[in-house]
Amino acid sequence: MAVDLTQVSQVETEPGELPKTMAAWVIREERFGEPKDAFQLEEVEVPEPAAFEVIVRVMAAGVNYNNVWAALGEPVSVMKYGDHPEFGHHIGGSDASGVVWKVGPGVTRWKVGDEVVVHCNQASYEDVEVHGLDPMAAPSQRIWGYETTWGSFAQFTKVQAQQLLPKPEALSWEEAASYGLVYFTAWRMLITRAKITAGSKVLIWGAAGGLGVFAVQICKAAGAECVGVVSSKEKGELVMQLGAKGYIDRGDFKDMMRSTPPQTGPEEKTRFKASRAFGKEVSGLLGGAPDVVFEHVGTQTFPTSVLTVKPFGKVVICAGTTGFNLDFDVRYLWMKQKEILGSHFANAYECTKANELIESGLIRPVLSQTLGFDGVAEAHQLMRDNKHSGKIAILVGATEEGQGRTAEGPGAIHAEVGA
Ligand SMILES: NC(=O)c1ccc[n+]([C@@H]2O[C@H](COP(=O)([O-])OP(=O)(O)OC[C@H]3O[C@@H](n4cnc5c(N)ncnc54)[C@H](OP(=O)(O)O)[C@@H]3O)[C@@H](O)[C@H]2O)c1
Repeated sequence: MAVDLTQVSQVETEPGELPKTMAAWVIREERFGEPKDAFQLEEVEVPEPAAFEVIVRVMAAGVNYNNVWAALGEPVSVMKYGDHPEFGHHIGGSDASGVVWKVGPGVTRWKVGDEVVVHCNQASYEDVEVHGLDPMAAPSQRIWGYETTWGSFAQFTKVQAQQLLPKPEALSWEEAASYGLVYFTAWRMLITRAKITAGSKVLIWGAAGGLGVFAVQICKAAGAECVGVVSSKEKGELVMQLGAKGYIDRGDFKDMMRSTPPQTGPEEKTRFKASRAFGKEVSGLLGGAPDVVFEHVGTQTFPTSVLTVKPFGKVVICAGTTGFNLDFDVRYLWMKQKEILGSHFANAYECTKANELIESGLIRPVLSQTLGFDGVAEAHQLMRDNKHSGKIAILVGATEEGQGRTAEGPGAIHAEVGA
């Protein structure tokens, strides 16, 4: 049955009752490939909430790179993970704002009608790690809307009750749906893993990107000083507006990038010299070498990160956008006793603490573009082709931008640049 896009913002049942079917953007294994073809609109059954689960009516969804990978079926097929084998489809989307529509058995903290945002970590409450170590260590740990189906690119989404956070009242639906995945990841990297404190000096790669705009603001809120790396003057200005002490255009240090396969001989000497010059520039702007380097670029920048961080300093990393195999001179690590810290998303407690700073207006989402529900495939194709600019949100239940604010406050920064 064809989906009537004009009806997506309408729900014919009252809160507490679910309609039989809903509109959803669905990826299936047989059409893995370019996002514009892999994502198709379908009418699918609305799931019922099981114990400790909640069905949220999605008002807006946030777009992340993870569902470009889901569409491509690379580097792995998401269909092997989580609840995908049970349902046979992938409904992506790892950020959402919305209204609690139905609660499953055992849920007491949330009730029908509550306005919420959703963090994307799931884990089974039966795993012992959840109760003593960290849900991120649980064997059942999954990223909702990537390693699970029933994500936010649909009229309704199915989540665990522990994933819900109060929607910041001063944000519109699309602003509230835009920040969770990247902000909470940056929070864990800097606060929990690297343990920045007032006075810490931090170097942030991709500082105008999804993770970066929050890393800069977290540093400022913690009393730490940071320098951001960007690729244009406009992005540099955004980073300064967010509270950085300075910025560097990486175009000025092109030779520092590690290539694949790695440079050798005289080429490596040139690369090393450029890395050193970059480190000097960073130290000049920060008044000393950084205590922490915020990494996610991977192969191309990692040798420079290890070289630039100060003795006994920390490189904290959550991704390898330019490659997963890191090649660097380990002497600069061991002789200067530096640390490399891996980090991945965040637990519910970290998400809650971080969300309080959005609620208070101390940290603000940065949103570049909002599209209608018809724009989900297009948004992911733009990302795939690197033609997007900044963070993209999708209106689902909301009919236009700006709806959903229930209090005065600074709201999001609407920036043309980013990413
Ligand atoms: N593990 C996790 O939990 C987690 C969570 C969120 C994201 N991630 C991953 O983290 C990565 C970044 O995510 P994001 O949302 O911040 O992406 P994004 O919005 O695209 O920003 C990344 C930034 O990196 C910079 N960059 C790109 N190529 C570079 C290069 N060769 N050298 C230096 N800088 C480069 C770009 O900024 P300039 O061009 O201005 O330098 C870009 O804005 C992605 O791979 C994502 O999948 C992981």
